[in-house]
Amino acid sequence: MTSYREVIADRDVVVCCGTGGVGKTTIAAATAMAAAAMGRRAAVVTIDPAKRLADALGITELGNDATIIEGPWPGTLGALMLDTKATFDDVVRRHATDDAQVERIFANRFYHNISTSLSGTQDYMAVEKLSQLHSSGDWDLVVVDTPPTRDALAFLEAPKLLTRLLDNAIYKLLISPGGGILRAVNRAASTVVRQLSRVVGAEVVDDAIEFFQTFQGMEQGFRDRADAMLRLLAADETTFVLIASPRSDTISEARYFVNRLGKADLAVGAVIVNRMLPSLSVDAARAVVLRDELAGGPLAGAAIALADHAAAAAGDDARVAELTAAVPEAVVARVPLLPGDVHDVDTLRRIAELLTAD
Ligand SMILES: Nc1ncnc2c1ncn2[C@@H]1O[C@H](COP(=O)(O)OP(=O)(O)O)[C@@H](O)[C@H]1O
Ligand SMILES: [Mg+2]
Repeated sequence: MTSYREVIADRDVVVCCGTGGVGKTTIAAATAMAAAAMGRRAAVVTIDPAKRLADALGITELGNDATIIEGPWPGTLGALMLDTKATFDDVVRRHATDDAQVERIFANRFYHNISTSLSGTQDYMAVEKLSQLHSSGDWDLVVVDTPPTRDALAFLEAPKLLTRLLDNAIYKLLISPGGGILRAVNRAASTVVRQLSRVVGAEVVDDAIEFFQTFQGMEQGFRDRADAMLRLLAADETTFVLIASPRSDTISEARYFVNRLGKADLAVGAVIVNRMLPSLSVDAARAVVLRDELAGGPLAGAAIALADHAAAAAGDDARVAELTAAVPEAVVARVPLLPGDVHDVDTLRRIAELLTAD
């Protein structure tokens, strides 16, 4: 691949990652838009878009199904805002053996907690949604925005969230043959539960036990699903796009991402550097000469501003070069810092054009 345009034209799944605030949601939406401009059927799964962007995309109503966005592109653009709870509910419905099991799970407080507030659930459901859209056959490209989690690559672990819970020793004790904890044959189990109950409250433990008991029969489905999701993330048709800004803290976060992705054997297909200072025709050294020459004169103020800007832009360039050198296989695209926020379709189109300008 030699350009982001090629990446967008070729891949079926694009996972946008990067630290919160760098423009992940914006770039994810613009990427899908660029694909639609190439005639592809592209869907973007956004996570908490800025309200005005969600308005512009027509997804303010928590849209867990794709909303088609009309525009002057030959392809199709769909957008949806991830609804973690609704997605989790869908998965439970899909794997449950009957309606009664679904009802029991939905009524359980432990389920309510893991499906709404357990850290990692949002990542898990983002990957789930991605696989659903990908396998639906309705889309040529699915672009997913990843949640702003503290652990940068939590979503790589996320599909294993429930299976890890299920593999947990305490869980095994709880549902062990012989009726689990209710008839705790095992002294260790009762001790563990007593201690747990003291820490988190007996009710919480009861809810958890009930949840895991109800969950029996669905485990294999969840395990197979997690395996399939991990395979999709690692597949050749999937690529990871790293979004960074030229600020030094986000550059070092980005380098950390590169490392982690590399360790997981996942290739970074592209690096998008967002919010680049527009480069001027004057380089930093020349701007300093100008500033000194014009000092004290009527243009002194402008010359100082020019020199400052040129120095900042040169600093950005140097930091970006350091990052891209760490991922030689990735294509690089740059998006300038725009004068205002990105909250309408026209501005997104402009970014889509910049991303694919080559
Ligand atoms: N190139 C840009 N120029 C100006 N503003 C931008 C640019 N990219 C993103 N923004 C704005 O920055 C804010 C954060 O962007 P967003 O895409 O929501 O970031 P993230 O999803 O990484 O948290 C938004 O208000 C967005 O409109
Ligand atoms: Mg975001």
